[in-house]
Amino acid sequence: MNKIKELSSYLELGSHVADIVEHTLTLPEPKLILPTGSTPLSLYKELVSRELDWSHVVTYNLDEYVDNTIQDQSYRYFMMENLFKLTNMNDDNIYFPGDTAVWPDLSYGTEVDLCLLGIGGNGHIAFNEPGSSFESETRMVDLTEETIQDNSRFFPTIDDVPTQAVTMGLKPIMSSRKIILMANGKHKKDILDKAMNGEVTEDVPASILQTHNNVEVFYCD
Ligand code: PGA
Repeated sequence: MNKIKELSSYLELGSHVADIVEHTLTLPEPKLILPTGSTPLSLYKELVSRELDWSHVVTYNLDEYVDNTIQDQSYRYFMMENLFKLTNMNDDNIYFPGDTAVWPDLSYGTEVDLCLLGIGGNGHIAFNEPGSSFESETRMVDLTEETIQDNSRFFPTIDDVPTQAVTMGLKPIMSSRKIILMANGKHKKDILDKAMNGEVTEDVPASILQTHNNVEVFYCD
């Protein structure tokens, strides 16, 4: 069964998912898990343009680099610039993995209302690289060569790309009430098909989403 819904453009991907986020924001205390990367940019732009009330929203980001020396490539910076600073989001409600006082914090990002995800070229979600346990909790990980290579487009040189990150694990991601996976570009099509229609295996971390009862997958090329 093909569970992937194809949208006509990257802008439509953003506005379609923004409708779902907007609906979630009508809850009394909405909790969201948010991704960084190039995929969610049209979504965040659309959300900002809608001038929604974010004052009661709690967000957990999926991941953050460790020992990153290029501060404007930190995921916190990305979120501030592309979403948080442009809304009435309360700073006290913004969480990143690794910066809570309790560590490891097993409650980090668990049981949220809506989890938004991108997918890496190797099938990773957040920084859960191939081989990550489906039972994995939030933790520090080494990035694979492929991910370092993929991310080098955002850094001055490949040597500036951090080699470690703190990532939300697959277990807390799967505890979300609803999950949306977004993919933009032909280069993501094969891995998306493999993840959603192929074998459920730790070699393709995103394939765990096939076992969740409330997942929507959106693709545009
Ligand atoms: P991208 O990254 O949105 O920049 O393609 C997605 C990911 O690696 O999870």
